[in-house]
Amino acid sequence: MDARAAMRRSVRVAPPPLASRAAVLLLLLLLSALPLSLTYTYEQDVFAINGLYTALGSPSLPGWVTNGGDPCVENWQGVGCAASNITAITLSGISLGGQLGNTLANFTSIITLELSNNNIGGTIPDNLPVTLQRLYVHSSILLLFHSTCVAISLLILLLSIIVSSQETS
Ligand SMILES: *[C@@H]1O[C@H](CO)[C@@H](O)[C@H](O)[C@H]1NC(C)=O
Ligand SMILES: *[C@@H]1O[C@H](CO)[C@@H](O)[C@H](O)[C@H]1NC(C)=O
Repeated sequence: MDARAAMRRSVRVAPPPLASRAAVLLLLLLLSALPLSLTYTYEQDVFAINGLYTALGSPSLPGWVTNGGDPCVENWQGVGCAASNITAITLSGISLGGQLGNTLANFTSIITLELSNNNIGGTIPDNLPVTLQRLYVHSSILLLFHSTCVAISLLILLLSIIVSSQETS
């Protein structure tokens, strides 16, 4: 009987001191004062991906919306993030149509944009995000861009062969 009473006493949690309770209350007040639209994902990235989605013709993609949303928290299909920044969008071979739109340049941290084997039309925007390292968009309609890339690669290869043959001679 005594042992059980002792155990009950030891389990009871001491109430937090007044100061910490006041701090929690203050925090709750601050949180409730914040705008409801506050999202974790970087605002400019949300703007950019909303624009991309609209340009693609708002196809059925889990999570994706044309206005707002929180891609890095809501697990939008094919979206990869580093903390609150969108770093990758991978949506290949899922019959996407539409175009790329004019908000690609608004992505702040995107590294990979993989949209190959879809039916995306239009042209590659002139201003691509500076962070972009890998852009995969092979599809018949964007062939012009692709062949330009191939031509440049061949030219670089040719130049490096010339340079190396000069070095050896
Ligand atoms: C997110 O993007 C901002 C602005 O481009 C950059 O300063 C920050 O380092 C990025 N964070 C991560 C985790 O990539
Ligand atoms: C998106 O990018 C355009 C062109 O760089 C710029 O004028 C516009 O302010 C940007 N919008 C947002 C919401 O960042």
